[in-house]
Parts: sequence; C-alpha cells; structure tokens
Amino acid sequence: MIHNIWHYFLYLYGLFLDSLSVCDNNNRLSTLSINKTQFPSQYLGRWYFLAAAAIPGTTALETFTVMDNAEFSVRQCREEEKLDFRAAIRIKDGPCVPRKWIYLLPEGSIELRTEGHPDRLTQLFPPRCPHCVILKETDNSYARLLLYSRTPQLEEEFMEEFKKKSSCEGYTDILTLPQQQDYCQIED
Ligand SMILES: *[C@@H]1O[C@H](CO)[C@@H](O)[C@H](O)[C@H]1NC(C)=O
Repeated sequence: MIHNIWHYFLYLYGLFLDSLSVCDNNNRLSTLSINKTQFPSQYLGRWYFLAAAAIPGTTALETFTVMDNAEFSVRQCREEEKLDFRAAIRIKDGPCVPRKWIYLLPEGSIELRTEGHPDRLTQLFPPRCPHCVILKETDNSYARLLLYSRTPQLEEEFMEEFKKKSSCEGYTDILTLPQQQDYCQIED
C-alpha cells in the first residue's frame, strides 16, 4: 500500500515537473518586448487573423466559427489617441462581411479600449514570432486570445507557439481559421 502511494506521488511529481517545463516564462504572455517608443506605429497596417483560443466550456469563440478567413487593416486616426480598425471577413458560406471599430489609446498606455464598448479591454503581447501579435480581449462575458500575423500562412512552429502559450494561460479551446477561400477586399 505504502509502496503504491509512493509511486503515485512520484507520478504526480512528474506531471508537475512536466507542466513547469512546458509553461515556463518563455511560454507565458508578456508585454516586456513591446517597444513603447514605437507604440502603436509598429502595429499599423495589414494583419491576417489566423487563430483564437478560449477557456473550454465558454462561448468566447462562437463568433469565429462561421469565418473562413479575415484580414484587418489598422490605421492611425486624425486624433492621435485613436486607431481605426477595419476588417474584411469571409464567411464560410461565401459572402464578405466588412467590420470596423475604433480603438482608444489612453495616453501612455499600451492597452486598447474599444469605442462604444466600455467594458472591453484589449492587451497586446508580442510572441517570439517576429511577424505576429497576440491580442487578449476581455469583456464582462468573455475572455479570448487572438493570433494575428503579417502573412496569411504562418510557419508551423509559430502556430505551435500560440497553442502552447494559450494552453499555459488555460485557454485550451483553440480554433484556427480554415482559409479555404479567397480573401475579401477591405472597404475604405
Ligand atoms: C525602440 O524603438 C525606437 C524608435 O524606433 C528605437 O530607437 C529603439 O532602439 C527601440 N528600442 C528597442 C529596445 O528595440
């Protein structure tokens, strides 16, 4: 009996070490490598939305399940503290759906607020992937991680990086966009 308990303990300890090595600081979300003097200019321009992650059992990813692909354009508004965010979403059934919203940039902050959605907070995390960004979007009712890339096709290692980081945050429900159809035109 004691022998068995000891084995069980070693087994648990092994699991514990495994989880530590997978979820060390390299696989945690961190804002450390954001260059604040370049913020937000380094995030302007075109982005492709490739994947999202959420805590299992929540509905945070529901809105993405109809998407085939999505391209985004980020521009500085005339007012410096606002970003114009436009999307062209290809729905699996075929149609293109344009979307647009305004991000508010509180002075000196690297967190984004969404105009018209006072409870929504968007934080940016640069992963190891040099041409990617991970957004963490939280609201009253949901929390999710979103992976954007400058290129529509992402190297497998960087997709794996996103999945690993997401899992380490407890966001193990992961959705990748199928990207089977052509990209839509972003409307000005
Ligand atoms: C951040 O960006 C500024 C302006 O482009 C640059 O001069 C500086 O070297 C960058 N800092 C780091 C740590 O990359």
